[in-house]
Amino acid sequence: MALREEIDRRRTFAIISHPDAGKTTLTEKLLLFGGAIHVAGAVKSNKIKRGATSDFMEIERQRGISVATSVMGFDYKGVKINILDTPGHEDFAEDTYRTLTAVDSVIIVIDGAKGVETQTRKLMEVCRMRKTPVMVFINKMDRPSKDPFDLMDEVESELKVRVRPLAFPVSSGPTFKGVYNLFEGNLSLFLTDNRQTADAETVDVTLDDPRLDGYISPFTARLKEDLELVEGVYDTFDREAYLRGELAPVFFGSAVNNFGVRELLDCFIRIAPSPRPSTTVQRTVDPYEEKMTGFIFKIHANMDPNHRDRIAFLKICSGTFERNKPYLHVASGKNIKFSSPTAFMAEKKSIVDAAYPGDIVGLHDTGNFRIGDTFTEGEKLKFTGIPSFSPELFRYIENADPQKFKQLSKGVDQLMDEGVAQLFTSRLNGRRIIGTVGALQFEVIQYRLEHEYNAKCRYEPIQIYKACWIESDNPEQLADFMKRKHANMAVDKHGRDVFLADTSYALTLAEEKFPDIRFHFTSEF
Ligand code: G4P
Repeated sequence: MALREEIDRRRTFAIISHPDAGKTTLTEKLLLFGGAIHVAGAVKSNKIKRGATSDFMEIERQRGISVATSVMGFDYKGVKINILDTPGHEDFAEDTYRTLTAVDSVIIVIDGAKGVETQTRKLMEVCRMRKTPVMVFINKMDRPSKDPFDLMDEVESELKVRVRPLAFPVSSGPTFKGVYNLFEGNLSLFLTDNRQTADAETVDVTLDDPRLDGYISPFTARLKEDLELVEGVYDTFDREAYLRGELAPVFFGSAVNNFGVRELLDCFIRIAPSPRPSTTVQRTVDPYEEKMTGFIFKIHANMDPNHRDRIAFLKICSGTFERNKPYLHVASGKNIKFSSPTAFMAEKKSIVDAAYPGDIVGLHDTGNFRIGDTFTEGEKLKFTGIPSFSPELFRYIENADPQKFKQLSKGVDQLMDEGVAQLFTSRLNGRRIIGTVGALQFEVIQYRLEHEYNAKCRYEPIQIYKACWIESDNPEQLADFMKRKHANMAVDKHGRDVFLADTSYALTLAEEKFPDIRFHFTSEF
């Protein structure tokens, strides 16, 4: 198949949700309906159960599973689908943010009883920033749920995106019958109840089919009214607006009961984007370019402390990636060949000879790669859009075993390269500060330093509200700011200046007093 065809048939996306909305269940059902697995239950939950904060075995278990399910690729109706997994636990939100840099679209799962929740809002901000096309799947309609129109209004106002339903529920709660497919103009009803496989018998009926009433009575009139209202309230579906990230098609269903999943998948493969151009500092890279380019968006350490090898996940952005062909690792200037790059099909890994834009390949790494590293056929490119996000929790990190200073430094460096957390060095006293998105990361770092690097750390509290990357076109004001705020200044691992505001008030005050300074909450601006 020619490169162009390979690219056009790829759909690389992530499913995101607030914990418990049904991301894992929907992922599994997509694999089931896509024919990648045959029985539900094959994909292990990658969730760290709540309350498992100090259960390190659970963390290790999660890390093991999440390599296996990091990317789930499969072919469905001639389309190559790559689902990128995102961690279920909100403390790992930064991993999710980074995964979003490697996808061309997103499916957001929302619990129909709970509506839009905090984590969904945060993740949507990242999608909005990147103009990622999103689809919304409102799940658990088999439970007593909010009114579908209210849910859509909520999505619109809370996620700040226009919506357009493409599937609509027939009743909800215990009498939930299924979804009317507005995209195809029919209703697919299950005649048999088989939730473990995708083999249940179904019948497709249209609105004017005389059998309709027999199947969904007493909800026929209500469905017709609802559909009229849908057509009256919402504009017809505008795919271009969806592709620009301005309009979110909405689907309803119940993943655990298989309702609405096929409708979602069949529509997804038709409207979701194939790989899009990527931006670099130097230029825009078109996926159809002959030469291979790609960047690392995730690094995964081996669980076995005796084999500290890592897998770096490379997202192919253009050209064809080939096994055993030397590629320039732009950060080190070295040419590197990969003899066993892995591809991910469903939950299996296998060595791959060629991969195309939209695909993810796993590269063996002995500790030389960092998140954001670019590989090319010689051109010195740096992909953008892989920012660090301002952490929310901060602690000083200190060496707890003077004999093991070197091990600690190496461990901390490598864990930061993997993106476990961010490291800042205080300008005032040179002390190192770890910033994370979730509390769990501090324990993960401590545990991994001990078990993988034979080093011990301890933490000390520090009062910081936010870390902001700063820049200004006014050098005098910047110098004045840095002088006055010396005690709150730090550098990140790339040597960039960061202001550590101790309270939200201090930040507001700084913004008012120094109008020529821009305070950024992501490392890329
Ligand atoms: P997550 O990955 O977003 O965190 O959610 P997950 O799929 O694990 O689903 C969370 C819980 O919600 C699970 O129940 C799951 O079975 C249930 N669930 C998912 N989809 C639906 C649905 O459409 N309807 C209903 N009623 N429930 C749904 P659990 O009790 O936490 O786990 P389990 O023991 O059932 O697996």
